[in-house]
Amino acid sequence: WSRLRAFKRVVQVGVVATAAYAAYDIYEKRHPHDQLPFDPKKRTIVILGSGWGAVSLLKKINTDDYNVVVVSPRNYFLFTPLLPSCTVGTIELRSIMEPIRFITRHKSRNVKFYESACTDVDPESKTVVISDVSDIKGSVQDTTIPYDYLVVAVGADNQTFGMAGVREYACFLKEIWDAQKIRTRLMDCVESAAFAHQAPEEVERLLRMVVVGGGPTGVEYAAELHDFLKDDLQLWYPELADKLKITLVEALPNVLPMFSSQLISYTERTFKQNNIEVLTKTMVKEVGDKAIKVQNADKEIVSIPYGLLVWATGNCPRPLAKKLMARLKETQTSPRGLLVDDYMRVAGAPDVYAIGDVTFSKYAPTAQVATQQGKYLADIFESLARIDEGKNVKISPFAYTHQGSLAYIGSDKAIADLPFLNGNVSVGGVATFVFWRSAYISNMFSFRNRFLVVGDWVKSKIFGRDVSRE
Ligand code: FAD
Ligand code: NAI
Repeated sequence: WSRLRAFKRVVQVGVVATAAYAAYDIYEKRHPHDQLPFDPKKRTIVILGSGWGAVSLLKKINTDDYNVVVVSPRNYFLFTPLLPSCTVGTIELRSIMEPIRFITRHKSRNVKFYESACTDVDPESKTVVISDVSDIKGSVQDTTIPYDYLVVAVGADNQTFGMAGVREYACFLKEIWDAQKIRTRLMDCVESAAFAHQAPEEVERLLRMVVVGGGPTGVEYAAELHDFLKDDLQLWYPELADKLKITLVEALPNVLPMFSSQLISYTERTFKQNNIEVLTKTMVKEVGDKAIKVQNADKEIVSIPYGLLVWATGNCPRPLAKKLMARLKETQTSPRGLLVDDYMRVAGAPDVYAIGDVTFSKYAPTAQVATQQGKYLADIFESLARIDEGKNVKISPFAYTHQGSLAYIGSDKAIADLPFLNGNVSVGGVATFVFWRSAYISNMFSFRNRFLVVGDWVKSKIFGRDVSRE
């Protein structure tokens, strides 16, 4: 009994300490302090982007040493790992967004944020051109700003292989508006299938949900869609739910090539149990408004009608990156992204750094890599500031620490490939799902986001997901 009492005491102290920390954190976040003004004597760092790389850098950088300007068409950070959950309403969109001002306003020196896209970088004059790409514009739409150091963290575009029809008819899954579009289109397909006197073959087409790309994005989306079908659509559309079919199309012999073979088989088995059709060795050749043409494993061309088409075939460079690569064509010899050295310096452009998906390197284009590179750059700038003061500081190259790969595969199951001692541990199942959720929650940048996401999970468990078409 005394042990039980001691344990209860520890739990009580833990709960009180967590509540006190949360209260302090909320108070701090809601009461930003006065900030130092821009200092013309300090160097100016311009950061392009407000994603994983840029925000990790921004959070860590010491603004006592620098003036910082952030340029991004998005005035928020997006927690991409939970984006697939937003396509079916397990999580609400705003729960995984963090306004950039919630971060910039807490730096010691005023950080300027311009909601705009950088359209050109001139490494010779050390300037960038920025354009207001929002619907509402003032009298100035394009302007040029100077930098002492530039950080390119603009991420990557969706890979389409230049295939006609993809941008027109398919939905991507990279940005918040993509998730919104998928959610709306999905419910539109279901309601149209329920329309009076709908032809049976049209019902079949409207309820065929096709996902192209068996990487983690395609797999996680198919998994979320399955959960939505099983937990919610079956309740509210009993006459239609059995007709809804999910098809995943993958060009390679298996899905999730970056996971261990054991987890690939586990995922494929789970998908089979969940009636998700997986077509491997199947390459999309043509995209129309109601059907795609694929070359299947037997090299036959087959038409697959669809109601909703989600396109998740990976990344390609954004126009800005291509433009910069063209400017630096002597040194930028890869069409797949910006080449950087071990210190994240862009080859051929002094004082320009690049991190995250915009780069082409030995590292996978993941949030994990971009975050570590962002933090690394903050350390680099700290060292450069000390060197400017005449101190002798050694700068080490970037060293990546892989913390493992996780993916959700549906029915409250996840898979994880985790580095362990000098080897690797591959696990999958319900316990991994609990680990997946806690890992993502702990990786969120703010207590506010954690609170909102946990609230959404509880809400969708108790009340189910919302099936309204927004
Ligand atoms: P991003 O995070 O994409 O940020 C790019 C920023 O640049 C954005 O703010 C954008 O608005 C801005 N920008 C674009 N163009 C311009 C311009 N011209 N000028 C200025 N700014 C510009 N990785 C993991 O490690 N684990 C996961 O579980 C995981 N899940 C994912 C789930 C999904 C659905 C997706 C799509 C990706 C996932 N990833 C995951 C990959 C991860 O999101 C990316 O690797 C990561 O976002 C890369 O960070 P980044 O900073 O390079 O780019
Ligand atoms: P990806 O590049 O990982 O996978 C794309 C898949 O599409 C590939 O398997 C490819 O073979 C297939 N494909 C390409 N063209 C095709 C065609 N014409 N027809 C059929 N299949 C075709 O892309 P994804 O999933 O968008 O991921 C991008 C990055 O983000 C990756 O680095 C990934 O690791 C990361 N990510 C990580 C997640 C996680 O860790 N849980 C979740 C989502 C993304």
